[in-house]
Amino acid sequence: MADPNHAETPRSLGDVAKALQGCRRCGLWAHATQAVPGEGPAHAPMMLVGEQPGDQEDLQGRPFVGPAGAVLDRALEAAGVERGRAYVTNAVKHFKNEPRGKRRLHKTPNRGEIAACRWWLDDERRLARPRVIVAMGGSAVLAVFKRPIPILKNRGRAFQLEDQAQGFITVHPASLLRMPAEADRLAAFEAFVRDLKAAHALLA
Ligand code: URA
Repeated sequence: MADPNHAETPRSLGDVAKALQGCRRCGLWAHATQAVPGEGPAHAPMMLVGEQPGDQEDLQGRPFVGPAGAVLDRALEAAGVERGRAYVTNAVKHFKNEPRGKRRLHKTPNRGEIAACRWWLDDERRLARPRVIVAMGGSAVLAVFKRPIPILKNRGRAFQLEDQAQGFITVHPASLLRMPAEADRLAAFEAFVRDLKAAHALLA
């Protein structure tokens, strides 16, 4: 896709990662340390899409390396999915946050920011050509499907996407971290693992 902000159309995921650092398509870059590109093999069969980098991801420049990443890693392992074989990315590539004392609090990206950043996700999809795209949480659903879809009613089944990949919906791993009761967290974890297994089974 030719971008009026960039002379060259990205020809590789590495090009996307480089071009992202100059992205000014929305205002989020101004409060982030860096843009966080997706990570994974060039032609990963499965793409996992989260919402946006968190504090740790913003500092390290890699997706899902903080607390939500730890939940994702455990769930992938339990589902028998090798993270290194998947392409892991986010709907929005800069950390949207609000300073509060020494901390930076996560703020949910709005529809305009998700739409602006779809530019990059579409490039990642075009270049990685995954067969299955798993949207984790509402922001990822908006980015991948271009419309809101209720997650709990639609999780666990495959949708045909325009680019011939199969789309799959599940919860965001950070939602498990916010559950106060351990029994709820465990049940939610098992359901998340079931979804990841079902998405992975589409590749068989
Ligand atoms: N949450 C996300 O959605 N993505 C990350 O990379 C980290 C936390």
